[in-house]
Amino acid sequence: MYTPVLSIHSWLRWLTLLLAVGATINAWRPDRDLSLKPPGRHWDTFFMMALDFQVLFGLLLYFGLSPVTKFGLENMGVALGNSNLRFWTFTHLGAMVAATATVRVGRVLAINAKTPADRRKWRFLFFALTTLAILAGIPWPGLANGRPLFRF
Ligand code: HEM
Repeated sequence: MYTPVLSIHSWLRWLTLLLAVGATINAWRPDRDLSLKPPGRHWDTFFMMALDFQVLFGLLLYFGLSPVTKFGLENMGVALGNSNLRFWTFTHLGAMVAATATVRVGRVLAINAKTPADRRKWRFLFFALTTLAILAGIPWPGLANGRPLFRF
């Protein structure tokens, strides 16, 4: 199970990133009327869905399938002192939990906004922050904890 779930998690990163960038660009579009739905709101929905699925597969790996995080969780002291283990046990999880929180904060602020300008501002700001958190948490090749861009 570990390998297929890791592969799904790896490939789904691209869809999530595409939707993150798309939703952020879309949120910048002018928003003029609070009585109407925000422009291109489907971007928001699909972005949040993709992120939720990523989190689901991530948690499955983190608490069940990954030998790396199993070792890290059982040996927190060792994990803190080793950059690769620290990344998988704390940093990756932290960045992605932060991303999950910021996207939701943005949505709630946008839903409760009093003016269309505020709605636009909150969507854009928090989707951009979410995208940055995701980008920062990905194990890009070349980093000490790097992983392949495409897993076959
Ligand atoms: C709470 C959310 C998340 C958790 C708990 C989580 C957890 C994990 C774990 C445990 C691994 C495998 C480590 C290993 O066995 O070596 C992993 C790999 C990875 N995660 Fe996450 N993840 C989360 C969210 C995300 C998100 C949102 C993205 C990107 C959109 C992402 C991108 C990746 C990538 C690219 C890999 C490497 C896959 C590979 O080796 O090919 N993760 N994640």
